[in-house]
Amino acid sequence: MPDNYKELLSALDALIDVTEPVQTGLSNASALIWQNLSSLNWAGFYLVRGGELALGPFQGKPACTMIGKGKGVCGTAWQEDQTIRVEDVHAFPGHIACDAASRSEIVIPLHDSNGRVMGVLDLDSFLPARFLPEDQEGLEAAAKLLEHKLFNFQDAAFSQNSDAPVGIVDSGLGGLSVLKEMIRLMPGEDFLYRGDSLHAPYGTKTPEDVQRYTFANVSYLMERGIKALVVACNTATSVCISRLREQYSDMPVIGVEPALKPAVLHSEGGRVLVMATPMTLQEHKFAELMDRYGREATIVKVPSQGLMEYVERGILEGQELDGFLADLLNPYLPADSIVLGCTHYPFLADAIRKAAGGSVQIYDGSEGTARELRRKLEENRILRESAHQGKVEILNSKDSAELAALAERLLYGC
Ligand code: SME
Repeated sequence: MPDNYKELLSALDALIDVTEPVQTGLSNASALIWQNLSSLNWAGFYLVRGGELALGPFQGKPACTMIGKGKGVCGTAWQEDQTIRVEDVHAFPGHIACDAASRSEIVIPLHDSNGRVMGVLDLDSFLPARFLPEDQEGLEAAAKLLEHKLFNFQDAAFSQNSDAPVGIVDSGLGGLSVLKEMIRLMPGEDFLYRGDSLHAPYGTKTPEDVQRYTFANVSYLMERGIKALVVACNTATSVCISRLREQYSDMPVIGVEPALKPAVLHSEGGRVLVMATPMTLQEHKFAELMDRYGREATIVKVPSQGLMEYVERGILEGQELDGFLADLLNPYLPADSIVLGCTHYPFLADAIRKAAGGSVQIYDGSEGTARELRRKLEENRILRESAHQGKVEILNSKDSAELAALAERLLYGC
């Protein structure tokens, strides 16, 4: 392989981090290709979005944004799932001319861990026949490296076997409230739950940390072989659900979100408190929910820093908790309803109701999440026969017998 490709490969390897978003890695990749190769007038990516290729990170002149399957050089490389080297673009039927200066072109498909085309790497040159077989070899090696780093996170593949368990991740023990509902609704399923109590709480970390911890947690479950993933943590869902869906594009990935809709419907113009971690309330996903439901009721954010820790410590009632909740909620009361926007809080529902004055209606998203999981499993034909008695395995990043006992107590109420 020519030296400039060896240099390109080692620069890509050094610069691109497996945990960063695909767009981030591809942005630097297009810049490195642009810097390392001569006589280019365009270098970049198109990514499969729906049934088309959408323009991704690139260097060069503005280019056409969407390309259909089988259209142009890019759409043909996608359809045929092979590298296409074009010595003279004018001789290629259907070539899409984004930059009139282009004379030759090479397009290489990029795949995910299931071998599906996720996008293409496209290079254009103002020289005719610029791309030789050794360029093809070097660029295909670069594409392999990008596939490995950005589309095959730790080489994990999901299981399409309906007997495989459903994986659940959470920052700690809170997701067990969602698991409870899922067991009730799908008693035939096996569930593999992994809490990350070692890094809890997520709500006060940076979004980058939450993304890193969540991906590590998910990849642990992927190695065990799961058929679907539930992110049973509002904070992790708001920060990285899109990235997870992008990464594991064929697997059902279900997130949780604060149950604003039923609360707003019930409260009819009343006052709805939303208790959640500060990060959940700050993230874009929550702003979208506010936009959707904010006109139908008065929605009040209650950043509840410090509350999930009570569940992690196994304190679900008592004076200390009552005092904490009174201090937290009093400034926001009265309320018609309270939305529990963190999966830990349903374990504190009685104490929260007491602190809010008894008659308040409490909503959490577990039932909706369980229903969504069932719908997705049915849609993908991987729902397990209910005659099978489902098993549950609870794992945690923090190895502690006390914590394991607390998880049992929270899940089975003993
Ligand atoms: N020429 C490509 C379109 C993309 S531009 O080269 C950036 C094609 O025919 O698919």
